[in-house]
Amino acid sequence: MNSFEFYNPVKIVFGVGSVEQIGIEVSKYGKKALIVSYDDVSFYGDLFDRIHVKLRENGVAYADYFGATANPKISEAVKGIELGKKEEVDTVIGVGGGSAMDLSKVIAAGILYPHDLKRMIKFSHSDDSWFIPPTQALPIIMVPTLPATASEMNATAVITDDDTLRKSYVWEPACLYPKTSILDPVLTLTLPAYQTACGAIDAVSHVVEPFFFSDEATYGNLELHDHMQFGVIRAIYDNIPKVLENPNDLELRGLMQFSATVGLNGWLTCGTQGWTPMHQMGHVLSSHYKATHGATLACMMLAWMRYFATKKQNERFVKFTRWMFDTNDLLKAADIFEEKIKSFNVQTRISQFGCSEDSLEELTQGVVDVSFSADGTLASIPPITREEVYEIYKLSL
Ligand SMILES: [Fe+2]
Repeated sequence: MNSFEFYNPVKIVFGVGSVEQIGIEVSKYGKKALIVSYDDVSFYGDLFDRIHVKLRENGVAYADYFGATANPKISEAVKGIELGKKEEVDTVIGVGGGSAMDLSKVIAAGILYPHDLKRMIKFSHSDDSWFIPPTQALPIIMVPTLPATASEMNATAVITDDDTLRKSYVWEPACLYPKTSILDPVLTLTLPAYQTACGAIDAVSHVVEPFFFSDEATYGNLELHDHMQFGVIRAIYDNIPKVLENPNDLELRGLMQFSATVGLNGWLTCGTQGWTPMHQMGHVLSSHYKATHGATLACMMLAWMRYFATKKQNERFVKFTRWMFDTNDLLKAADIFEEKIKSFNVQTRISQFGCSEDSLEELTQGVVDVSFSADGTLASIPPITREEVYEIYKLSL
């Protein structure tokens, strides 16, 4: 196993009714909080009234910024930063799925960031001179309501540039880890079936990517990683139909919630690189075609399996299909996987987002612009060329 350093300081408060602790947790870090959530919070019923009460009970004032949309934009962060500065907040609370939580991270760092906000995000992987990572952020408290991104327990935020439609990320352990994340399964009970399924597929993809894109020649013996990763994949994947059939089952909802958190909090990739080529290709589908993040990953996982079935047999992909679908045949496994995802009513083809053969060049260029390294490839094992990105998109039509 390779040498590594692991650091994850996030306090997790998990359990039914745990959202009631929001006031106590926030009061440890500040006196006035900016609450960041979606532009429409009617879906949440009285949740924000209850959060407000708990904050007041613990001596915390607050200002609401309900400005997040799916695939949040730099402009939304700018407005939140302006409000946070005007209200002189000293903490930030993110309430919602990955979009709201990621926006809250960018705002928490952006309030203290002296540069053009766009320079905080890695909008180009080939030109590092543009990127100025944040060095500090206001304390962040998370209340996740959608099991998916694990933003509640990692130091990453994903955001889109309104002007260029480039969707990319900032990863900064020095300041973007939340202080505390409150995982209350009750808050996920009212999730619509489509969001539940897309969130779960996103969470699966977070573990499938390191499973696909690691190898023993690079990272040494991966037996522990493989079993940990496969356990998380199965815990989520096998329970998707169960939670869709029993949406009010708190035990299942809690299992999905914590499994998604574990999927991308760093535990599963110690000593390996977190290559995410499928995410890089999925991001362009979201930013250019407003496709739901988890659905883009469904399309990408299937297309990559089919690409490697025909072009480059890869033992990692075969190990995955043997363990998941009891076959060494990647094409057969992809067919089984696709039928299952379809049964969750999640898109499996990018044509369902409005893409056509005419879109492929634009999509490919989008990946090159944001995610290609200076050496002209997309980081993965093996590295992927421009032509291969085009081919993989084509297979996903
Ligand atoms: Fe994701």
